[in-house]
Amino acid sequence: MIVVLDLVLGLYSLASAKSAYLPSIAAAFLGFALQAGDVFTAPQYNMTVAYFARYLLGLPAFDILLGLQLGIVMVGVAGRPHAQYLAKRKSRRGRELDYSRRSFVKAFIGFAALVGVGAVLGSLKLPASASPTTQAPSSSQSAAAQGAVANVAGLQVGIPVYFDYPAGYPNALIKNSDGSLTALSMLCTHVCCECSFDSASKVFYCPCHGSVFDMSGKVVRGPAAVNLPTVRLNVDNSGNVFPTGVSNPGPCHA
Ligand code: FES
Repeated sequence: MIVVLDLVLGLYSLASAKSAYLPSIAAAFLGFALQAGDVFTAPQYNMTVAYFARYLLGLPAFDILLGLQLGIVMVGVAGRPHAQYLAKRKSRRGRELDYSRRSFVKAFIGFAALVGVGAVLGSLKLPASASPTTQAPSSSQSAAAQGAVANVAGLQVGIPVYFDYPAGYPNALIKNSDGSLTALSMLCTHVCCECSFDSASKVFYCPCHGSVFDMSGKVVRGPAAVNLPTVRLNVDNSGNVFPTGVSNPGPCHA
């Protein structure tokens, strides 16, 4: 939405439309603040701010958009004294380009309200559709002791059982063909989207940018460059499986 707004205002500005000058500066200022402020949403995705900032600033499109908006703001601010000077001299161009602080704030609030409405509409939840490839937790979990994520007797080779550990961090427990167990974080190490398990090809697939991890958590396809973190496990004498910690936590475990 911001890009569309910028395009429309940019075209109007190029056509020297008086009505586009001030809104362009206000929209660019808001766009810059929103884009730069995006890095602070990192904890919402279980990422550190530094990691998310590095990721965003590494995207050329993000940098170009940020730079363009900053450029518009700087030109608007730097040109204001000249516009005021021209306006004082009763120049028509000066009157067109001069703006008061009050009119800037008004334009800024107008755009902020527009973006706010867009954000509210965007956050409305649509009914969730079930993923055909995601395995439901095994019923064997009900046979596990309290605090355990499963019991080995109920696990099937290659069929994950899902559990949160620590609370709010999704993981998958997998029984390997040799009987050993592997527990992996489901948070993609690229930008922390939640992966889903593809039962047909036996891989973890990240829906955000297409990273793929094998059943041991190893990166099969990027852009993720780091393997999935593993959850350390303890199995008691009755076969109950307890998570005890996260090895190589990566960027998604704050
Ligand atoms: S978050 Fe980008 S590939 Fe997973």
